[in-house]
Amino acid sequence: MSVSVFPEENEPRIEALLQQMSLDEKIGQLNQYALREEHTGPLGKKGQVAKRMKLVAEGKIGSVLNLTGAKAIREVQQIAVKQTRLGIPLLFAYDVIHGYETMFPVPLGESASWDLTAIEKSSRISAIEAAAAGLHWTFAPMVDVTRDARWGRVMEGAGEDPYLGAQVAWARVRGFQGDNLADINALAACAKHFAGYGFSESGKDYNAVDLSRHTLQNVVLPPFRAALEAGVATFMNGFNTLGGVPVTADAYLQRDLLKGSWKFAGPVVSDWNSIGEIITHGAASDKMEAALLAMTAGSDIDMESDAYLDHLQSLVEDGSLDEKSIDDAVSRVLRLKFALGLFDDPYLRSSSEREKSIIGAARHHEHAREVARKSLVLLRNENDLLPLQKDQKIALIGPLAADKDTPLGNWRARAKSNSAISVQEGLSAYFDDDLDYSIGCQIVESSFDFAKKIEFAEEDKTHFAAALQIAREADIVVAVMGETANMSGEGRSRADIGLPGLQQELLREICQVNDRVVLVLMTGRPLALAWEAENIPAILLAWHAGSQAGHAITDVLMGAYCPSGKLPMSFPRSVGQLPMYYNHLSTGRPTAAPGLVFYQHHNDVDRRPLYPFGHGLSYTSFRFENLKLEKEEYYFGDSIRVTVELKNIGATKGEEVVQLYLQDLVAMPARPVLELKGFQKIELAQGESRIVSFQWETTDLGYWTAEGEWKIEAGMFRVFVGGSSEHLLESNFILNEKDEY
Ligand code: GLC
Repeated sequence: MSVSVFPEENEPRIEALLQQMSLDEKIGQLNQYALREEHTGPLGKKGQVAKRMKLVAEGKIGSVLNLTGAKAIREVQQIAVKQTRLGIPLLFAYDVIHGYETMFPVPLGESASWDLTAIEKSSRISAIEAAAAGLHWTFAPMVDVTRDARWGRVMEGAGEDPYLGAQVAWARVRGFQGDNLADINALAACAKHFAGYGFSESGKDYNAVDLSRHTLQNVVLPPFRAALEAGVATFMNGFNTLGGVPVTADAYLQRDLLKGSWKFAGPVVSDWNSIGEIITHGAASDKMEAALLAMTAGSDIDMESDAYLDHLQSLVEDGSLDEKSIDDAVSRVLRLKFALGLFDDPYLRSSSEREKSIIGAARHHEHAREVARKSLVLLRNENDLLPLQKDQKIALIGPLAADKDTPLGNWRARAKSNSAISVQEGLSAYFDDDLDYSIGCQIVESSFDFAKKIEFAEEDKTHFAAALQIAREADIVVAVMGETANMSGEGRSRADIGLPGLQQELLREICQVNDRVVLVLMTGRPLALAWEAENIPAILLAWHAGSQAGHAITDVLMGAYCPSGKLPMSFPRSVGQLPMYYNHLSTGRPTAAPGLVFYQHHNDVDRRPLYPFGHGLSYTSFRFENLKLEKEEYYFGDSIRVTVELKNIGATKGEEVVQLYLQDLVAMPARPVLELKGFQKIELAQGESRIVSFQWETTDLGYWTAEGEWKIEAGMFRVFVGGSSEHLLESNFILNEKDEY
């Protein structure tokens, strides 16, 4: 059941306005430009703002991106409302991905919390801050499922699983949009990138994508379907081709599927110049042809390519393009503007007073700390090295230990540079005297520049000696290392996903003088940490955890919060294992014991992930037992209840993510060996146990056919329950089509 965010009562107003519009005015609604020298794409033409402001006054722009601030937006809105013939207000959009000014963990990190309420609240706060800054629309959530950590944009999504991705997509859309788009705190959301961008070949950004319709339907599309069910107001297409067709020009995806069978009623915005890039893809000879292909395929708004501005009029006039296509696109844009209440009050969100009182509020930072704590994943903790004790002498080392910028992550919207709480600041609050600290080695200058290529200092060992000196004298070393914010994100694909620069070398030397080392890992992607996993006794995955990172990380290091995060994406041993994901097919020669040859594996590396999907340790321990199904046989239409007993057998209160997986043993096409089909995050006191139950309907056991039909097949199924995608309790049942008796 889809939530519709477009009130029916607006339809007559949309139709009436459309009737008044000239073709030129209609086309004006379909152009979107940045009104600020802030290019979230290949560095566009500089000095365009003045010319574009003129276009606003001429009614040739319908929406604006990257301009923020109540005052600035009010000024431009006044031009559109007062100087154009029909006074149609503009939409103002921005990439509010994991916060506007208050930063939450990067989305991949926040997905590791598996806490949908917390995730929804982060998006809600992001919307409140962005709307206070005058914005109507965010280009989020990015819901691209991806299995390749080389791709820089893994930081922006919810990882490798379509079910978790769908749950997170739903929560984010509900968080951004709230209950009513006309509300002053509402932000129209945008499901992107439609579709398949996360499967860019070899993890290279913008690369070609080739997927079967079966994989498209069962892996890529479920989060988009979930976003639609949550009432997402807009979609964005992408830069990739799908089977050679640029998705911006893909009529199957946008017309047949999204606007056809899915009945989506809102606008589809192109990605930055993705209409123009139809030419570079080699699928159009010029911008006129690109404009025709894109409009025919259902791309309603042209972001930054000029194709619609320059060519739609002549395409209609020469009969190549039916004006009805333009009317449909304009209706969708107007539908969004009416739903946001812009025609009732175009300046509703442009109040500088509200902006000052709302943005960066203390309660927002409280949530930032809370959700960051929940997102941290304890990957390893040999001999319970963690939590730290107050009487221990700590040596704090590493290029990211005092870094106040990296935790803000990529896609940081209007976060103030160097405004995050560093680990050094967080830890210092716990220890009375000064912590021994040494940077150990540089990675890069900490200044964040979205469009800047990263260089890191490979040879500079100047600080090694000082770092080793404090390591030698300490009870425990806390090494804060990983990637800077700019090493993941758009255009940030890496062929080597180890610790950048000299970090591992520094770690090796530290381990020579002190074997009690905690690695706090800041990263926007899974990294290949085979050596670290063997030699560093404790590893805490801290992602880029946002404005309150230092406090959240310290809360976990000191035991004030028991870590509860679980991996939304597998960690490989080697980059050569990628793409790596838990929900793979069996294949005809499933991987067998090492040393055997004619089986599916790499001969030179342990076949398993270093840390599997769903993995995450705690300071306590949980035991799963008594996995039960009520029956061994079910029939179509039955409900299937699964129960398991969870017990906290450790020494402290903690949370466990109880994960429910399914395997459909025989189907055509074959189904994955494991599919996440449910999860619950449960908190138990020391010694407490609880019966956790899940309920499936037999319809939940199906899968999408290549044609987009939901199919349920009778047969044998396996059920698995546990605290990760490995070490699972197992049971099985048979599903019959009907009860013959
Ligand atoms: C970028 C991204 C897209 C973003 C858009 C506007 O290139 O691909 O996700 O929303 O341009 O900034």
